[in-house]
Amino acid sequence: MNPALARLQPYPFERLRTLLAGAQPPAQLPPITLHIGEPKHKPPAFVLDALARNMDGFGSYPLTAGIPQLRTSIANWLTRRFRLPAGSVSPDTMVLPVNGTREALFAFAQAVTDPTAQPLLVMPNPFYQIYEGAAFLAGAEPYFMANDREHAGLPDLDRVPADVWKRCQILFLCSPSNPTGAVASIEYLQRALELAERHDFVIAADECYSEIYFDEAQPPAGLLEAAAAAGHTSYERCIVFHSLSKRSSVPGLRSGFVAGDAKLLQSFLLYRTYHGSAMPMPTQLASIAAWDDDAHVVENRTLYRQKFASVLPILREVMPVDMPEASFYLWPRVDDGERFTRQLFERQHVTVLPGSYIARDTPEGNPGRDRVRISLVATAPECVEAANRIRDYVSRRLG
Ligand SMILES: Cc1ncc(COP(=O)(O)O)c(C=O)c1O
Repeated sequence: MNPALARLQPYPFERLRTLLAGAQPPAQLPPITLHIGEPKHKPPAFVLDALARNMDGFGSYPLTAGIPQLRTSIANWLTRRFRLPAGSVSPDTMVLPVNGTREALFAFAQAVTDPTAQPLLVMPNPFYQIYEGAAFLAGAEPYFMANDREHAGLPDLDRVPADVWKRCQILFLCSPSNPTGAVASIEYLQRALELAERHDFVIAADECYSEIYFDEAQPPAGLLEAAAAAGHTSYERCIVFHSLSKRSSVPGLRSGFVAGDAKLLQSFLLYRTYHGSAMPMPTQLASIAAWDDDAHVVENRTLYRQKFASVLPILREVMPVDMPEASFYLWPRVDDGERFTRQLFERQHVTVLPGSYIARDTPEGNPGRDRVRISLVATAPECVEAANRIRDYVSRRLG
C-alpha cells in the first residue's frame, strides 16, 4: 500500500463519533446537529427543475473540460461578482468545472506538487482537513500557520519563516475561513501574491464560503480580484476554488469549479483526464442555471442573517461569542472543546464539533483546543432551540 495513506488522520466526524460513543442524551429532547457544515436550506426549485429537465444527458459521456456554456456562465459570474476586468477570465483556458471543491483541492495538490523537491504545502490551522491529506498523498509535508488574533482570525503570513516559503509549493488560503469566519482583505491577498512571486509558489484560494456574508454592500474580496487590482490580469500563480454547495444550498449536486492561471489549469486538465471524473451533463446544465442567478443567493444569505440575529443574543447571555465576518459558523471560546461537546450532547442532545478536531497540535499548542464550531445550518427554529439549550447547559454549569 502507499505508505502515505497511513498518515491520513481520522476525519473530524469519526473522532466525534468516538467522543460521543456511549453517551445517553435525554430521550425527550429531539437531537439537533450543528457539527457538519452541510447546508440544509431548500435547494432552489429552478436548479432541481433544470436537473430534471436534462436527465437524458446521462446517456452520454461528459467531457472533463465541461461544456463551453457552463464555463462561460462561470466566467461571467466571476467577472460580475469580483468586478474583474471584462474579458480577463477566458472561459476556454481559465475555468474548469469540478465535482465539488473537495476533490478538486485534493487533486490540484497532486497535479502541482513536485515531490522530489522536499515540498511544503502551507495551510491554516485550524483548517479544512483535505489540505493536509492532499499534502501527504502528494509526497509533501504540511506546514501549519495558526489562525491568529487568538485563533479566530486568519494566519499571519509574515510570521512564516523565509526557509518555509522557499520550500513552499502551494499556499492554501481559506477566506471566508472555515471555521473562524474571518475574511481576507485585498491587501492580505496581495501580500500573499507578493510572497508567491518572490518565492515561486502557487496560491490555492478556497473561496467556497465567499457567498455567505451579511452586508450586501460588502461582499468578501477574492484572490482574482486582488490580483486584478494589482495589475495581474492573467492571474499567474492564482487558482480559486468555488462551489455551489454553500452558495446555492446544493451540497449533493457536487458542483464547483477552479479558475485562474491558464498554464496551471492546462496541466490540471491533463491530470484530470486521467484522474477525476467529468461532471455529468444534467449537473452541468443545472449548474448553469445556478451560476446565472444571484437572487436565490441573496435569499439564502437573508436566512443565515436572520439565524445569526436570533441565536447570538441567546448565546451571549452566557458566553462571549462573535458574529463571524462571513460563513455560517460560530467559533466561540469555551473552556475545553471536547468536554463541552460531550456534556452538551449528554445533557441537551445538541451536537457541535470540538475545535481541536479540525486543528493540529503544534509546539505552541492546539489552536482549536478551547473552541467549538457551531454550524448554523439547521432550520431557524432548530437553531433557536439549540441556542436555548446551549444557554441552559452553560448557565447550569456556571450556576
Ligand atoms: C473550507 C471548505 N472547502 C471546501 C469544502 C468542500 O465543499 P464542496 O466539495 O461541497 O464544494 C468545504 C465543505 O465543507 C469546506 O468547508
